Amino acid sequence: MNNRPIMKSKQRIEFGDFQTPSDLAAEVCSLLKSMRISPKSIIEPTCGVGRFLEAALNTFPNFEYASGMEINGLHLREARQRIGSRDSRVRFHRADFFQTNWDKVLNSLPEPILVVGNPPWVCNSELGAIRGTNLPEKSNTIGSRGIEALTGRSNFDVSEWMMSRLFSGLRGRKATFAMLCKTSVARKVLAQAWGDELPLERATMHRIDSQATFGVAVDACLLTAEFGPTSEPQVCHVFERLESKMSHSSFGWRDKRLVADVTTYDKLKSGLTGSRIPWRSGIKHDCAKIMELRPDGTAFRNGLGERVELETDYLYPMLKSSEIASSGDATPKRWMLVPQRSVGEDTSAIQQLAPKTWRYLQSNRTRLDGRRSSIYRGRPPFSIFGVGPYTFFPWKVAISGLYKELCFTLLGPHEGKPIVLDDTCYALSFESQVDAVEHLRLLESNVSKLAINSLVFWDTKRPITASVLNLVDAKRLAGTES
Ligand SMILES: C[S@@+](CC[C@H](N)C(=O)[O-])C[C@H]1O[C@@H](n2cnc3c(N)ncnc32)[C@H](O)[C@@H]1O
Repeated sequence: MNNRPIMKSKQRIEFGDFQTPSDLAAEVCSLLKSMRISPKSIIEPTCGVGRFLEAALNTFPNFEYASGMEINGLHLREARQRIGSRDSRVRFHRADFFQTNWDKVLNSLPEPILVVGNPPWVCNSELGAIRGTNLPEKSNTIGSRGIEALTGRSNFDVSEWMMSRLFSGLRGRKATFAMLCKTSVARKVLAQAWGDELPLERATMHRIDSQATFGVAVDACLLTAEFGPTSEPQVCHVFERLESKMSHSSFGWRDKRLVADVTTYDKLKSGLTGSRIPWRSGIKHDCAKIMELRPDGTAFRNGLGERVELETDYLYPMLKSSEIASSGDATPKRWMLVPQRSVGEDTSAIQQLAPKTWRYLQSNRTRLDGRRSSIYRGRPPFSIFGVGPYTFFPWKVAISGLYKELCFTLLGPHEGKPIVLDDTCYALSFESQVDAVEHLRLLESNVSKLAINSLVFWDTKRPITASVLNLVDAKRLAGTES
């Protein structure tokens, strides 16, 4: 069997081997030139076949020293051929980024420095799936606790590690950093730099069309950062395209967190000091096939298609993200089996109180005990999370964590029971309808919406989080509205 294409695509994924087209590299370098930089040293840390390095050398011909580094020998050979031995100022090194002593490399360079390129866009979980090993060692001592912590995270991008490593090596230098990367990675790298108080004088993000350029559907950008003596103002200006002249927004670092719109945040932050009532996420059970049921005549039907007879004691009408995302009528079509009223509660009482429910749970015990997440280990059988007295309050103001719109929904009892939510939603719970309606009105005020929007990155997978919502003092914000 010919497994060459498989090998090739595995290698492509493992090494993020998507070479930058020459015209894009040239466009990026001409943008850097318009920023009036004039580097004496140029470094391309993962130079591939050398198109970025070539563009940088052409754009900044007055450099004193340039270096292209790359792990793949064939690519490096092509880079050498492309750029040629026309210039003794240019060096090529076959080098593994993770084995390179970056402090030594960067410290020896004449200033100003330009670090430019396009590191591999792959994350450690993708590498795990293909048994790839192109990763930093776990205990790499490189002098930044933030970067070391990265390797301990269950999911991190290789480019995030590489870029953060270069950032920490540029501390205190006169340098410009410019790399193509995922926008999510650019934000994380900047957040870490700002958190570590790295002296960045200016940062920009220009969005690029990665589908058209690299054939991958991911939000991507050119991140630039200018290193200098000061660390203010901890803001990154965002441009719609490489050729955009005006930035359309600015995100930044405020009060130890990333905020999506610094101007609005700075204006409204007095109302972002904490919600008066805690936002909670919905119920987590990780077993929808058993725990979520549809009414079927006098009985219910579970996700396996089985018809089951259950007492109603432990059943509650439920809604999911997609059902509360659009405003209007959110009438529950499913019921959730809620075996506990608080996290860790003993479940054995169900046997006496609701024998049919007990038998149903017992007959599905293997499935429930087999839930993958470690949070269920050592807990009573049939345990759930995200449950407490608030779950059973009759009135709620809810929002989906997944939807790309700020849309709050008022929920009241259904068939005499409180509506519960799944763990993709967040809610404030109320004993009284009047309080719930009033809080919804405050949250829907223009000023509250502006304030929440200043915190939210709408292009992320889960834009709304409990930590964002729990900053919002809707009463105070509404009071500032004139
Ligand atoms: C997205 S490509 C970009 C190549 C080049 N920078 C460009 O812009 O055209 C990423 C490059 O990183 C190289 N690479 C991946 N892992 C590396 C490592 N650990 N050390 C050095 N280079 C690596 C790959 O071989 C590939 O050429």
